[in-house]
Amino acid sequence: MKKVRIIMITGALALALGCSKSDNSEGTPADEPNNQNPDPTALTYQNDIRPIIQSNCVSCHGNPPTNNAPMSLTSLTLVRNAIETRGLISRINSTTNPMPPDGLMAQNARTLIAEWANQGFPE
Ligand code: HEC
Repeated sequence: MKKVRIIMITGALALALGCSKSDNSEGTPADEPNNQNPDPTALTYQNDIRPIIQSNCVSCHGNPPTNNAPMSLTSLTLVRNAIETRGLISRINSTTNPMPPDGLMAQNARTLIAEWANQGFPE
């Protein structure tokens, strides 16, 4: 009996660790290639940013926004506005006031959004 329980706990731990390690490729399979963009100089809203926002933000920041979210993030312009006027980049990196509220996205996704902004919000 005890042995079984230990095995189950170890299994659960391994699962949990495995999940947090593979955070970068979380989301629908269609998102994976985008989150692993090998060429950071070729970021685009359509290929790289939209899928991240879609899987992590639009459940609240949809059109119309739900769950008390103050704005929608369903287009390039709206995301750009939120970066320029609502502190989106700092919120997605904040440990005290994170977006999404239930915990930060994988570092890779956060870096992509900041990099995309640095590159002038390419379409
Ligand atoms: C579970 C619902 C939910 C999800 C998911 C979510 N948000 Fe939010 N968001 C909110 C709520 C509610 C607020 C308003 C309260 C606050 O600022 O904390 C907010 C506020 C914000 C603000 C500040 C707006 C302002 O004018 O002060 C930004 C920026 C933001 N969210 C970005 C994001 C991004 C980017 C994502 C995805 C990476 C995301 N949020 C995911 C619910 C959510």
